[in-house]
Amino acid sequence: MSISNDLYPNASTSLQRKESGVPIVRKGLHVESYNDFDPLRHVIVGIADNQHIPEACPASNEKIPAGSPMRGGKAGRRTQESIDIANECLNDFAKLLEARNIIVDRPGAVDWHERIITPDFTISSGFGVMPPRDCLLTMGKTMLMAPMSFRSRYFEYLAYVDLLREYFESDPNCLIEQAPRPRLSDESFRMDYVAAYEFLSDEETMERSLRKEYSTKETDILFDAADVMRLGKDVFVQHGLTTNLAGIHWLKRKYEAQGYRIHTLSFEDNHPIHIDATFCPLRPGLMLLNPNRPLFKGQREIFEKNDWEIVEAVKPSWENPPALCYSSTWLSMNTLILDHKTVCVEATETAQMEQFDKLGFDVIPVAMRDAYAFGGGLHCATADVWREGTCEDYFPNQFS
Ligand code: NVA
Repeated sequence: MSISNDLYPNASTSLQRKESGVPIVRKGLHVESYNDFDPLRHVIVGIADNQHIPEACPASNEKIPAGSPMRGGKAGRRTQESIDIANECLNDFAKLLEARNIIVDRPGAVDWHERIITPDFTISSGFGVMPPRDCLLTMGKTMLMAPMSFRSRYFEYLAYVDLLREYFESDPNCLIEQAPRPRLSDESFRMDYVAAYEFLSDEETMERSLRKEYSTKETDILFDAADVMRLGKDVFVQHGLTTNLAGIHWLKRKYEAQGYRIHTLSFEDNHPIHIDATFCPLRPGLMLLNPNRPLFKGQREIFEKNDWEIVEAVKPSWENPPALCYSSTWLSMNTLILDHKTVCVEATETAQMEQFDKLGFDVIPVAMRDAYAFGGGLHCATADVWREGTCEDYFPNQFS
């Protein structure tokens, strides 16, 4: 793939390498994270450079809510003006984090404009790398590149390969890994389902979701990293549009052998994708739940048995998401927690900021709404490299 640097002014620059190609060690670099709330020391912040709206694919089609202007094929490069405005948000956010002595890296440049062709499928373009959280899963000292379930995102991991190679070289205890690559052929999806989806009401999509029927079948091992919520030894994974049961089984088999406990969560949500605007850990013992997306029966038990409090998030300040946005207004809940007392919240989400204030947090307002359309909010726009702290057992009372 050919890449013009002009198209990627915010991407990380090429690695410094020895003649052999081995990256030069970055001193002090450390990879480790077990949750979303311990003190943040190093993070990747996404970029909006050269982002495209890809043509619909079987998995993405099901995500786009009825009535969204994204239905109806808006494929193509996003306007330069919208890219610049989104980058302003992302760059200011990166600077704010750096001013708090948090190390910030940016994804590398990959040409999202190129048509993607594999032996199994083809699609008009890639997507972009505003939301590193969707692709990268940091489990302790391992950084895993997720399979991803949208065809347009099949090669998204390439934007992180150099960075991860540098992390691997710089932290002798870190491991980088790739989940099994999916095929994403027509066999991977219920194609009849996808065709019908366009004409279903919200009630009908909700009924399908409650029956746990999605456009994705169990043919491939599928998960996006943003469906995984890490709470020390216990890891909770949302079953939905982007993560199938085979994906959860894979995570279970892999990580339970390392002493983690993997749990499946389901929510009453007609578009269950990415857990981080649905159920968000705030600090040890405290969860924030989307009031419109209750947990399935019996799934609160493990939190209650271990004295975790679940508070319902207040309503978002906006009635609608911005134009050409894949996400709902509940990006209000999609925050970046810097430590047990400090949280970054989108600056126009005044009600959500007040709720955090009442919960005892110092709130840092961060302008991000103009980047929402590029793939999400403050949590989506980041991926942990290092948080202080160790792998705690927050749920010693497991199911009987
Ligand atoms: N399903 C979510 C995505 C959150 C990042 C929403 O749109 O609410």
